[in-house]
Amino acid sequence: MISSLTADALIEQPVAAGALELRKARMSDIAPLLDLINGYAASGIMLPRTEFEISESIRDFSVVYSGGKLAGCGALHFYSPTVGEIRSLAVHESAKTHGVGRRMVEMLVAEACEYSLDAIFAFTYVPDFFRKMGFTEVERGALPLKAWKDCLRCPKFQACDEIAVVRVLEPDHWVAASQKWGMAVTSLEGTEPVLFPIVRQK
Ligand SMILES: CC(C)(COP(=O)(O)OP(=O)(O)OC[C@H]1O[C@@H](n2cnc3c(N)ncnc32)[C@H](O)[C@@H]1OP(=O)(O)O)[C@@H](O)C(=O)NCCC(=O)NCCS
Repeated sequence: MISSLTADALIEQPVAAGALELRKARMSDIAPLLDLINGYAASGIMLPRTEFEISESIRDFSVVYSGGKLAGCGALHFYSPTVGEIRSLAVHESAKTHGVGRRMVEMLVAEACEYSLDAIFAFTYVPDFFRKMGFTEVERGALPLKAWKDCLRCPKFQACDEIAVVRVLEPDHWVAASQKWGMAVTSLEGTEPVLFPIVRQK
């Protein structure tokens, strides 16, 4: 049975630099994924996932292993032909601050580029981490409506305090889409383009 693996499958020692295995997830990863994600969900940091949900979206997931134990995970979920979301990003407590989160985001960004996405976004409580990964904070309401479907079952639905962040992958394509969503793209000298939400007209 998939769920026979438990927290023992997670790492207990800090990760060794350079000893990380990154790959797309497989069905055998589901139990440790559930442990990792739902461990954080229990403290309200992430949305909980069921075995069914992870099975259904296993192809979205990538994993990082260290010493044979799950050190981190993340998923790239498509919303449109041009936009995707990074979700279920988590690094095991004992593996934090060793670059695992960065490697996972880089892998998901590379995957998004392979699929020719124009932009990826995330809802997060750690915007400073995402800023370091090249994301920019945007007005939550500017993101596509479909992105809110998970929110309907979130305990914080009425009082959401997550921050929306976006990273543009294809600036030229993004201009049209961002205008449609009420955002502008501008380029700071010597940096990647960044988004500035436009206050919606009543
Ligand atoms: C957020 C999280 C994924 C970061 O993973 P990590 O492996 O510890 O991060 P890294 O070691 O790769 O850090 C990369 C950079 O981000 C910084 N960073 C890491 N966590 C940060 C945080 N919470 N706030 C601000 N900066 C952070 C690091 O200092 C590092 O900066 P540097 O490159 O200047 O040295 C991890 O802390 C986690 O799983 N948190 C709990 C679950 C969660 O909040 N997930 C996000 C859901 S959207």
